[in-house]
Amino acid sequence: MTHDDGETPHDPFAHLHDEDYTAPFGALVDWRDTVFMGGRGVEPLDGPWRFALDLFDEGLRQRWFADDPSPPDTWTTPRDYDGGDWQTVPVPSSFNLLKPEWTYFEGSVWYTRDIAPTLAPGERFMLRVGAANYRARVFLNGAFLGGHRGGSTPFFVELGPHLRDGPNRLQIQVENRRAPDRVPMTHFDWFNYGGLHREVALVRLPPVFVRAFEVALVPGSGFSRVAVRIALSEPVDLEAHLAIDGLGAWTIPIVAGEGQTVIDAAPELWRPDRPRLYDCRLTTGEDTVADRVGFREIRTEGRAILLNGEPIWLKGVCCHEDDVALGRSTDDRDIRRRLTHAQELGANAIRLAHYPHHERVAELADEMGLLLIAEIPVYWAIDFANPDTLADAQAQLSELIRRDHNRASVIAWSIGNENADTDARLAFLSHLAQTARALDTTRLVTAACLIDRKTFSIADRLTAVVDVIGLNEYFGWYEPDFDGLVRLLANSAPDKPVVISETGADAVTGFAGEPGRLFSEAHQAHVHARQLEIVADVPYIAGYFPWLLYDFRSERRQTELQRGYNLKGLIDRNKTDKKAAFHVIAAAYRRLG
Ligand code: GCU
Repeated sequence: MTHDDGETPHDPFAHLHDEDYTAPFGALVDWRDTVFMGGRGVEPLDGPWRFALDLFDEGLRQRWFADDPSPPDTWTTPRDYDGGDWQTVPVPSSFNLLKPEWTYFEGSVWYTRDIAPTLAPGERFMLRVGAANYRARVFLNGAFLGGHRGGSTPFFVELGPHLRDGPNRLQIQVENRRAPDRVPMTHFDWFNYGGLHREVALVRLPPVFVRAFEVALVPGSGFSRVAVRIALSEPVDLEAHLAIDGLGAWTIPIVAGEGQTVIDAAPELWRPDRPRLYDCRLTTGEDTVADRVGFREIRTEGRAILLNGEPIWLKGVCCHEDDVALGRSTDDRDIRRRLTHAQELGANAIRLAHYPHHERVAELADEMGLLLIAEIPVYWAIDFANPDTLADAQAQLSELIRRDHNRASVIAWSIGNENADTDARLAFLSHLAQTARALDTTRLVTAACLIDRKTFSIADRLTAVVDVIGLNEYFGWYEPDFDGLVRLLANSAPDKPVVISETGADAVTGFAGEPGRLFSEAHQAHVHARQLEIVADVPYIAGYFPWLLYDFRSERRQTELQRGYNLKGLIDRNKTDKKAAFHVIAAAYRRLG
């Protein structure tokens, strides 16, 4: 049913002709309007939500959200949606895997559930969505409260002012269509899961609360100065009290809602082999937050990457966040297994391809002592000339940095993957590098670049913008002749560190074969063995990231051997069976020490 504006006579069919139906629901939450979550209790909304598919966006066209829930026998006009519990899905989940007929669904879906909170006087009440792929819109009791773009970063919507006594109907519309102006665009080598694939929760807050709490070593300070930045929800003047166990306590003035200072402190440095974390606690006004922070410095010097002033060679591995049963969703068990497998490989670093992974990954990597390259999905072709696409990418990057700023394990922000070297792309990614550096002076900026085919060298113009050059190359697979890699590396003279950000080959688990036999384990192992031999001798190569830890879903892979999976995993999709290449790389990493 449509809702009249009070003038024109009611036309129950008007919505059929309105192709501008999303216009009233375009508002996006500001990525700055976050809530610092460390140390906070939440009221989880995990569990069954009422669920409806909405392939034609009927819910926005007909304003499904506006209808008061009532049983059909009370309806005076027919409806196409009842928000009923005849169909529910668990949140978080990738709905694609819950029913065979939903696997390839690309459209809108509606999540509905009731909440009935009671707020204390002055208490604020937020909804936190861990991630929703791709476009989300939040409604409460029929009112549109705000939306979000980007499938892998958290966002917050304030519910408090819109709550009413008794049950409140909370609805989240999520739409996972691929589109030319999105980040990523319409074409990518992973499965397009949809929905609320990370946790959803309610957060109670005082009238003034901490939106951002950033604490990190000041680079180049001789490991003896710690920068602290605090942002509050309101432009008030307050005092903040910071205590860092084992280091001391400080009072930090907050003026107009902002406070920053540099404190003299020489913490024990966080290192992969000794991941020392400090308990930090911040109290300001009625709000208290906490975090467990590792202090370390990452920077480059010439063609070396320095961790705490010492050169480090990144014995890496790439990883998607993908699971046969969980899809894009994950949990502590899946994440701990992922990180443990990387450590069994002998890796000291993981490239979290190609989008922000769950926040627990960096938290657990902090504890387990792994370095991470975190990435936003500026992948392959992007509408680089579109300012709104840039705004989308900048918001995703800003949300990622805001979420993981205090994670010692995260050493670099990766702002692109295999994009063609055009003027528009250079401008777009230069803006993203600027965004990253404006928000975070404590990490490196990198991107996975392609070979410059004209000069057959590492000459992508983006190399002048990033701190560490990522090079994706597949000699031994897409380009069978390894001599090409030798020639490429000899032709190049980068003045900054280069890491092989991707290389590898497909292998069917259990198909032993022999080198030269494509899709055999022996050939995949041979590719990595030859790759490592070649790159280990090149002084400007500072790391190697095999593509990748596990086989993963990709509809682009349709041979009988692949059957919808990319088989470049060093471990099978079952996350148990290791292929021969795993052991070849592990032996090489042991030799590298
Ligand atoms: C590219 C791309 C990956 C892809 C890989 C492959 O380098 O970055 O996302 O999966 O190649 O072809 O397997």
